[in-house]
Amino acid sequence: MSESRLIDTAAAREILRANDRDGHTVPTDGLYPFQWSWDSAITALGWQTFDEDRAWREAEVMFDGQWGNGMLPHILFHGGNADSYFPGPSVWGSRTRIPSSAISQPAIWATTLGMMLERAADRKLAETRLAPLVPKLVDYHRWWYRERDPDGTGLIVSYHPWESGMDNSPAWDKPLARVPEVEWTYERRDLGHVDSDQRPHKPEYDRYLYLVDFYKRHDFNSRVIYEECPYRVIDVALVALLHRASIDLLPLCAHFGITEGVEEVEAGISRTQAAIDRLWNDERRCFLSFDTRADEPLDVITTGTVLPLFAGLASDAQASAMLELIEEWLDASTVGLASTHPASPLYEPKRYWRGPIWSHINWMIALSAEAAGRPDIAERLQSDTRRLINEAGFWEYFDPDAVAGCGGDRFSWTAAVALYWLA
Ligand code: DGY
Repeated sequence: MSESRLIDTAAAREILRANDRDGHTVPTDGLYPFQWSWDSAITALGWQTFDEDRAWREAEVMFDGQWGNGMLPHILFHGGNADSYFPGPSVWGSRTRIPSSAISQPAIWATTLGMMLERAADRKLAETRLAPLVPKLVDYHRWWYRERDPDGTGLIVSYHPWESGMDNSPAWDKPLARVPEVEWTYERRDLGHVDSDQRPHKPEYDRYLYLVDFYKRHDFNSRVIYEECPYRVIDVALVALLHRASIDLLPLCAHFGITEGVEEVEAGISRTQAAIDRLWNDERRCFLSFDTRADEPLDVITTGTVLPLFAGLASDAQASAMLELIEEWLDASTVGLASTHPASPLYEPKRYWRGPIWSHINWMIALSAEAAGRPDIAERLQSDTRRLINEAGFWEYFDPDAVAGCGGDRFSWTAAVALYWLA
């Protein structure tokens, strides 16, 4: 059976090599021609399986683009050819040495770098390369708690659907609909690479761009943006992934003798632990994101809504409820796990984050299920992901009903997940 067939590791390595641009890996050629933060963090784990030096380089190049205030941008626009992607650095109003976007992405770096230290075959190399990155990780985490939770609620906020990494998730439909549309015209580049039925619609793009303009217009002033940004959402996945990464960061700080700023990270961890239950929804059997402008939960079950499992943020009862939900959800499509629950009227199996499967999310949920004592769910996710890659290829995402690849082909994080999790 195809799901038990071995993964083609030679093909996966070849994808990473082909997507290598002198120290950073593009997610896929064409559609995403620069360095994306969470793609890069996942991709480094794949590099580590066959080229440890190159894996550490991926992280070093990313952290070279860290802002002075600690923020790690979601895109670094290395090198020339800025016009190959829209919106490029001039639209963002970038003023940094390495041009960048002005928002971040899920903070998974401390988690993946911690795993890399643990898995390192060359321990000395790992120690040498990771040591200078740890204070940068601390600064990054402090930035999240300070700038995105200035009132100390325990729940950081997000200012853009792109910051979630789950850009077009139906969870963001309502808060995004309240954002004005830009009136200027522009040319989308994504539609030159991928079918429009697998990408966001124009009204969504008009609003994405309004937000990009908004930060620039307010000179990236974090207090003003916190108070006035029309889109301000508590994204439960962003909260959970930061929380898990903060917990993973503490032993790294202890190991490398870093103390500065660690108290702020510890305080952030405690505040989130105390606050997370505000997002729990008994009826839905998961946590829900929250629109702080409309003061209402975002009532859509997505793979993001169960990620508190990955962060150890769920009580035993909450964890069992979510695992039961995940089992039924797996049964609802040919292969799992669909990014939006197939029973939702908003489920679209091919469109970006509105239904397709992502391999790195399956990996996170499998790790969570295993830690919660459900290796059967973990194995099912693993064999489904293997089947998708074996039958369809190393695609950006997969249609859960048709068992087919969508979005960008020869995709770095899919190749990386195959190398470190499935091979
Ligand atoms: C895109 O261009 O779709 C990216 O996901 C934005 O980060």
